[in-house]
This record gives sequence, C-alpha cells and structure tokens, in this order.
Amino acid sequence: MAVFIRLLRLAKPHLPKFFLAMICMLVVGAITSGLAFLVKPALDEIFIKKNSEMLLWIPFVIVVLYFFKGFCNYAQTMIMSYIGQRIIADLRNRLYWQIQKQSLHFFAEHPTGVLMSRITNDVSSIQGAVSEAVTSLFKDTFTLIFLVFVVFYRDWQLASIAMLVFPLTIFPIAKFGEKMRKVAVRTQVTMGALNTILQETLSGIRIVKAFCREDYESQRFAQRNEHLFRLTLKTVAVSALSSPFMEFLGGIGIAAIIFYGGHQVIKGTSTPGTFFSFLTALIMLYEPVKRLTNVNNTIQQGIAGAERVFAIIDREPDIKDKPKAYELPKIREGIELRNVSFSYNKQPVLRNINLKIKVGEVVAFAGMSGGGKTTLVSLIPRFYDVTEGQILIDGHDIRDVTITSLRRQIAIVTQQTILFNDTVRNNIAYGDFEKSEEEIIEAAKAANAHDFIMKLPCGYDTVIGEQGAMLSGGERQRISIARALLKNAPILILDEATSSLDTEAEIEVQKALENLMQGRTTLVIAHRLSTIRGADRIVVMVNGEIVEEGTHDELMNLKGEYYKLYMMQFRENGSTISL
Ligand SMILES: Nc1ncnc2c1ncn2[C@@H]1O[C@H](COP(=O)(O)OP(=O)(O)OP(=O)(O)O)[C@@H](O)[C@H]1O
Ligand SMILES: [Mg+2]
Repeated sequence: MAVFIRLLRLAKPHLPKFFLAMICMLVVGAITSGLAFLVKPALDEIFIKKNSEMLLWIPFVIVVLYFFKGFCNYAQTMIMSYIGQRIIADLRNRLYWQIQKQSLHFFAEHPTGVLMSRITNDVSSIQGAVSEAVTSLFKDTFTLIFLVFVVFYRDWQLASIAMLVFPLTIFPIAKFGEKMRKVAVRTQVTMGALNTILQETLSGIRIVKAFCREDYESQRFAQRNEHLFRLTLKTVAVSALSSPFMEFLGGIGIAAIIFYGGHQVIKGTSTPGTFFSFLTALIMLYEPVKRLTNVNNTIQQGIAGAERVFAIIDREPDIKDKPKAYELPKIREGIELRNVSFSYNKQPVLRNINLKIKVGEVVAFAGMSGGGKTTLVSLIPRFYDVTEGQILIDGHDIRDVTITSLRRQIAIVTQQTILFNDTVRNNIAYGDFEKSEEEIIEAAKAANAHDFIMKLPCGYDTVIGEQGAMLSGGERQRISIARALLKNAPILILDEATSSLDTEAEIEVQKALENLMQGRTTLVIAHRLSTIRGADRIVVMVNGEIVEEGTHDELMNLKGEYYKLYMMQFRENGSTISL
C-alpha cells in the first residue's frame, strides 16, 4: 500500500489536470445512467402513449447526450494518458540516471537483461496501474453509483433482489481474473527466459557456430517457445471460457428478471418503460463492475513493478561523493597506495599493497593472470573502493575528493576494449565532444590509427557497429588508445592496451605512447614483457601481493619471479621463431 501511495504521489504535480479528468468522468457516468433513465419516457411516452412531441424531443436529447459523453470520454482519456505517460517517462529517466550512478558492484549483481526489463516492462506495468487502473477506479465507480441510483429509482424491490444476486456473479469474475493473472505471471517468466536465450545466443553467435551448437540452441529455443505457446493457449482458454460463462449467467439473471418484472407489468403495478429502463441500467452495470473487479489485478501488477523500480531508485550508489568532497588539485607529487587490501566479495584479491608512484614515473605491472593487476588499477579511478587502507594522491585520500575531479585526471585504456555503435570520430571524442577535428586526428595519429581510419568507407564518419564489430581487435584497441590520449589527462592507465597489436604496430604505438608518457604518471599492465622493459619501475604481482619491484635489469639479476616469467616468454618466442 505504501508503494501505491508513493506512486500516487508521483501524480501530485498533475493534480489540476487530474481534477479536470475527474469532472469529465463524472459527466460520462451521469450521461451513461441518464441514457438508461431515458428508456422509460421513450417507451412509455412514444411507444405506448404515442406522444408525437416526445418523438422529437427524446431522440434529440439522446444525440446531445451521446455527443457530450463522447467528448468527455475523449478528454478524460487524453488527460489521464498524459498524466500516466508523463509520470512513466519521468520515472524512466530517473531510473536510468540512478542506474548510471551505480558502482561496478551493482552491475556485477544485476545482469544487463534484468536492468533492461526494469526500464521497459516494469515501468510499463506501473503505467497500467497509474492511468488505466486509476481511470477505471474513478470513472467506473461514478458510473456505477449513477446506475445503481437509476436501478433503485425505477424499482427498488426488484433492485434489492438484483443487488443480492449480483455479488454471486462477481465471484466467478474474480475467480477468472485470478486464474488469468497466474497464467500471466508464468507467461512473463517464460518470456523473460526466451529473451535471455535470444540475447545471449545472438550476440554470441560466433561461439555458437564455432562449437556447432546451432541445433542445440534451436532446440533450447523451441522448447521455451513451446512452453510459451501452451501458456498462451491457456490464457486464451480461460478468457474464451469466461465470456460465454458470464453471458450464460447473465442470461439466467435476465430471464428471472423478465419473469418477475413481466409479471408486475401484466398485473399493472409497473409500466413497460419502468421495467426496460431498469433492465437497461442493470445490463449497463455489468461493464463497470467487471472492470472494477479487474482493477485490483492491474494495481497489483503495477505495485509489483513499482517495488522493483523503487528498489533501484532508492539504492544509494556505494561509490559517491562525500558531503564535504572537494576538488582534487592537479597531481603534483604522486600516487600512494597505503596498506591497501581489497576483495570483490569475501575472497581477498589484493593484500596489503604498499606502493608509491612519483609524478611523471612510468610504473609497469607484471605477473600471472588473475594476480590482481586490473583490480589494482581499477581502484585508482574509484571503480571500486578499497576494503582496507587508503589511496592518496598528493596526500589527499581519493575518497575525500569529488569523483569528477579525480576521474578528470585519469585517462584509461581498459583490458576489454569498449566502443560504442557510433562514428569513429565520436568514439575517439567520447570524453569531450567539443574537441576539434585537428585534436582528434592528432590523437588518432599518435595511436597509429589514422591510416586505417582513412581507409574505412566514410573515414572518421564511419559507424563502427556494436562494440566496434566492423574493426579488427587491434584496430579497436588503437581507437581506444586514441580516445584515452585525446583526454590528455595527467594520469594514464594502460591495461593490456597493445595486446592485440602485432609487434610492428606495437612498436609504433609504443613510440607514440612513450612520447605521451613524458610528464605523465603512467601505470602500464602488459603480459608481453618486451612492452614494459623500458618502464622506470616494474612491479610483479602474484596472488594479490607485490612480490618484486625494480627496473628490468634489477629484476633480471634477482633471478626471481620476473626472471622466470621473462625466460618463459623468451623461450616461447624463440621456439615460435625456430618453427
Ligand atoms: N568483478 C569481479 N568480481 C569478483 N571477482 C573478480 C572480479 N574481477 C576479477 N575478479 C577476481 O579477482 C582476481 C584478480 O583479477 P584481475 O582482473 O585483477 O587479475 P589480472 O591480474 O588483471 O589478470 P589478467 O592478467 O588475466 O588480466 C581474479 O581471481 C578474479 O577472479
Ligand atoms: Mg587484467
């Protein structure tokens, strides 16, 4: 209930419009019952008493009433839809903004597909509750009240009997509704499963083909699809049965009323007009009552959706600015990791790291896969916060400064190349679309990307496909290097930035990078040790700990972990060459 009230509160700014809609609904309800009311004079005056004056008046009034009813119905629908859609659009924006603000932990917890269904499906079900259910709640209630008035006014005795019998018909309607809802929930779940298979297998089609799993995937899909087919038929079966069943019940009711009412007309205690006016109002009652019994379902669905949406909106991002966060001044001394430990869940990934990086220094990280290198460099832009210890830039704990001022000083090339389905130009200028054409080209040249970009069908205006699908792995990397270079930040983080390049291209890019590293504080990660030979210092990480530190020569003399790694690569390369 609290959730529903919160939903209604979203409608608060639209209150004046809502009142206008209410007035329209009132008019619709009044006219509907007015039409039932008019059946009596129409029958008694025109058909029985053959009053020719009424023959002109009544049809005229009916036309006028229908006109107003139509107009008010239209106005009411438009206003309520406006309110509903406005609330939904605002909610969607808020939800998306809130999702954008979340930390990477949040994204590890919530798969993309689930977040997408929050923004699309859940928000839509809220719309149902807000505009449809609220409309029905008011419009149908008004209509109901007016019609009940007509029914009692025409024949209170018969009305009392009908009111006793009426709840009996509501019971099966509610039953059918419940059944429908259960099937609907299962359909939703199956639909979700179908979507997941679709998303995974279509974006991973390359692997499906490589492992010859087309048949398997098709079968998996067919299975779910069959399930969906059966569920859909079930929905149809329930709804197809409900309407004839209700009509049959209604038929019995009408037969009984005709028997009783007809008896009274024959006896002369009532007129045909009174009776038919009563009957019309009673039949007209069916629709609003049916809708009102369904309102609960729609509201329940909306509330369920709203709960899931609010859960995200209410979630405070676990990485955010402190209330007193200040701007981090441009780095002048260096970065320090002091007793840093970190774990994603429970398992520690980094243990007691102590490291000082002077401004302008190039520090390389080497070590076995899974050693924690990517994790370590992710802590510097606060993709994650340390579990223990602190990270300082010029003595400022990075949790005390604003995230924007911190990240503005860091340019990063991530291990997984991430590009958007946009032009080459916009991908390179992603950090700042105000950059000039010359600057973009300069960055592309430095990243050794300009030449291949010029060979693309539309040069810098070529749209490169989802995740840069149109480009080779090395080309993608060079674009992401250009993107980082264009940012021109004092701290540069390169996580396997050149791993997909051939040796020749790497040497080229390396040269450009070396120029750029001048005066910048750089953290480089590379498995290919030849890449990092020239670094000022090499840090070797094993199982989340720093085991060795020094220049290439120092580490080689040490004959420890680094020496082992280096000799292994050297031998590998040697054997490749000898092949
Ligand atoms: N998002 C995550 N959630 C949980 N555990 C993670 C996550 N990312 C990495 N890990 C774990 O943390 C450890 C360190 O991973 P990390 O990516 O830092 O290694 P790495 O040294 O960069 O390895 P590589 O050289 O293969 O890139 C690994 O054991 C990995 O399983
Ligand atoms: Mg890594």
